[in-house]
Amino acid sequence: MFEHGPTGALRIDGVDLDAIAAECSTPLYVYSARAIRERIAELSAALRGLDALVCFAVKANPSRAVLALMAEAGLGADIVSAGELQRALRAGIPPQRIVFSGVGKTTDEIGMALHAGIWKFNVESADELAALQRAARSRGCVAHAAVRINPDVDAGTHEKISTGRSENKFGVAIGEARRWFAAAGALDHVRLDGLHVHIGSQVLAPGPLQLAFERVAAFWRELAGAGHAIDSIDLGGGLGVCYRPGHDRPLDAMAYAAIVRSALTDFGGRLVLEPGRWLVAGAGALLTRVIRIKEGESRQFLVVDAAMNDLLRPSLYGAWHEILAVDGSPRERVEYDVVGPVCESSDTFALARPLPRCVAGDLLAIADAGAYGSSMASTYNSRPLAAEVMVDDGRHAVVRLRQDFEGMVAGERLPAWEAVA
Ligand code: LLP
Repeated sequence: MFEHGPTGALRIDGVDLDAIAAECSTPLYVYSARAIRERIAELSAALRGLDALVCFAVKANPSRAVLALMAEAGLGADIVSAGELQRALRAGIPPQRIVFSGVGKTTDEIGMALHAGIWKFNVESADELAALQRAARSRGCVAHAAVRINPDVDAGTHEKISTGRSENKFGVAIGEARRWFAAAGALDHVRLDGLHVHIGSQVLAPGPLQLAFERVAAFWRELAGAGHAIDSIDLGGGLGVCYRPGHDRPLDAMAYAAIVRSALTDFGGRLVLEPGRWLVAGAGALLTRVIRIKEGESRQFLVVDAAMNDLLRPSLYGAWHEILAVDGSPRERVEYDVVGPVCESSDTFALARPLPRCVAGDLLAIADAGAYGSSMASTYNSRPLAAEVMVDDGRHAVVRLRQDFEGMVAGERLPAWEAVA
């Protein structure tokens, strides 16, 4: 996504990162609209010839500007909350292209989604199925539901983002799903007409995806043989990206599509894919300035103005993100522990990372931060949420204002008994 300008400094789509940081201050997320469009086009090309609906997993990056790009390209949305439903609708994603996943949909959320007329509920438990039936009956409508299968497949990814093993809270075993379908006739307000599977995120190996898809395909064949009309199979998201060059070897879109094709050649209905990370991770960077260098006993700490509240992935998952000096001038390389100002040791972006020797004020870009970056941000340590900028064809626009102090504390109140009369 990055280019080098005439002085060697980093740019995105013809826009100098230094200039954006000077204008908007740091920490700052920058997204490339072109990079997102390219990923959409690459995936669409790989899926050509299939009846496939790509539903962007909103949780990866719910920015209105990002969702607008998805809507413009005709994508749908995979949502997991009423908030994501509202964001998707507001961005212009039609309800007929929205699927609703998650183990904890509340009665209110189910009601809102029915009211909006979303396409499909990905149902994850018997209790949720009953709640959906009740909500649809009280509205006098019929909800369409896909049963999320837990295929008991280890995705081979980080345990915190692995979802397809039987001990995980997601989906139901095929045996349970079989019983649901056998009793489906009793559901007069839910049509069980889909299957869903999602085994985890940042999946790099083809084997687990192939196995999970084949298990779901075999179950679909069994259901079809028993006379159940299944019009959609949702294969979830999970396609991994390369965070660490030379280390992560993700599948490309063609290889992924080949797995989909081989597992589901004979399925005549609609395939749904729910990629999040793959579409947006590489399209975003977190810009941060060096506050100071601190000489430790045994290591050098590069203290930057972004922290775990802005980008949680390294702290939470030990995730590796490439860090680049924006000023491209040749400098001696030094190993730094890159840390933020938050008061806990987990606020570390990288350990012993070779970087050009830095001084206070230098601008760094933390790469591949377009997915699960701003979406997982918090105001921990009373640090306001960072601004976000979108770059498109030599232009740039602030798509989220930096939160100010008043914005951060808005909604807080003293308890009424403390209020001065
Ligand atoms: N569909 C379902 C049902 C999901 O639970 C998820 C992600 C996706 C699709 C999208 O997965 P993707 O294509 O983005 O891998 N915060 C973590 C990732 C959590 C993913 C949760 N579910 C991280 O930063 O790595």
